[in-house]
Amino acid sequence: MQTTTLIQESRLSPEIRESAAFGTVFSDHILIAEFANGIWHTGDIRPYGTLPLPPAPSSVHYGQAIFEGFKAFRLSDGRVALFRPHDNWLRMNRSATRLAMPAIPEDLFMNGIAELVRADREWIPERDGGALYIRPVSFAIDETLQVKPATRYRFVTITSPVGPYFAGTVKLIADERYVRAFPSGTGDIKAAGNYAGTLLAARDAQERGYDNVLWLDGVHKKYVEECGLMNIMFVVNGRVLTPALSSTILPGITRDSVIMLLRDEGVAVEERAISIDEVVAAARSGQLQEAVGVGTAATIVPIGRIRYRDQEIEIPSWTEGSVMRQTLRELESIRKGATPDRHGWLTFV
Ligand code: COI
Repeated sequence: MQTTTLIQESRLSPEIRESAAFGTVFSDHILIAEFANGIWHTGDIRPYGTLPLPPAPSSVHYGQAIFEGFKAFRLSDGRVALFRPHDNWLRMNRSATRLAMPAIPEDLFMNGIAELVRADREWIPERDGGALYIRPVSFAIDETLQVKPATRYRFVTITSPVGPYFAGTVKLIADERYVRAFPSGTGDIKAAGNYAGTLLAARDAQERGYDNVLWLDGVHKKYVEECGLMNIMFVVNGRVLTPALSSTILPGITRDSVIMLLRDEGVAVEERAISIDEVVAAARSGQLQEAVGVGTAATIVPIGRIRYRDQEIEIPSWTEGSVMRQTLRELESIRKGATPDRHGWLTFV
């Protein structure tokens, strides 16, 4: 990709880089490109700063906005790698197709982001579990109130030094008043609007002493789909259960990586419908060993408690031998370069 790179004096403070709360501090540069007259125009790497917008960008009115999230890590030998960026590119373009938006060219996404991370590599935190979180977004900028696919779009990528999204375990409540996604809707893509729809439910959960919502399916209010902003997995009698992908489940790249690592270890993974009654019954009989949320931001986070109607399910804490804890360690070890990258997940920049 031909980019123009404008270098500015760094704003980097190592102290802030190591301690900032998730997604609150941004590195020195951004990648930006615009789509007009049917093509994407050359991307630029520019200093982080305010971007002009018309007063009526159509994405604000009608929601043509999609995003991705993935991470850059520094390996123990000092090299820098992106984790499965090509899969994020593919998913971003599935999101684009679903919202009638133009696909992002592979060169712009892959090479533009590699160049951006190279420019700001000093922003990768050194703390345990630290990474440079990469956030590409694409949104419509037509000035119109007409409801139709826009003709102009902006693609922007920002990066942010982050630590783990959660400290400790998460507590969830299955709140049947809210639905995250419905069949054939947009639940399986990263549409910005999907996240807006979860905020009130999450706030209600927090007011009741939980961290977020255990999302049940919208048709039967019976099958477990996701948790908070993550995919969900259960360990029952040594087998891992996770909802099968469908139009209401985000095909998480961390979800996919975890399943591959589990299967490498010979752990049985069942991707299928899981009813909340099955989870409650497994907990009551002592067979529910672990429950975790799985996503890019959190990687793998243990779920400590689930409330469903008048039942409170306590989930055992992680021990040294916990299946998911071991899988997290394995994933972290691949990302540090301590374990061979046998699936070819790392792209060096
Ligand atoms: C993820 O962890 O996969 C996310 O998309 C979380 C992000 C919305 C903070």
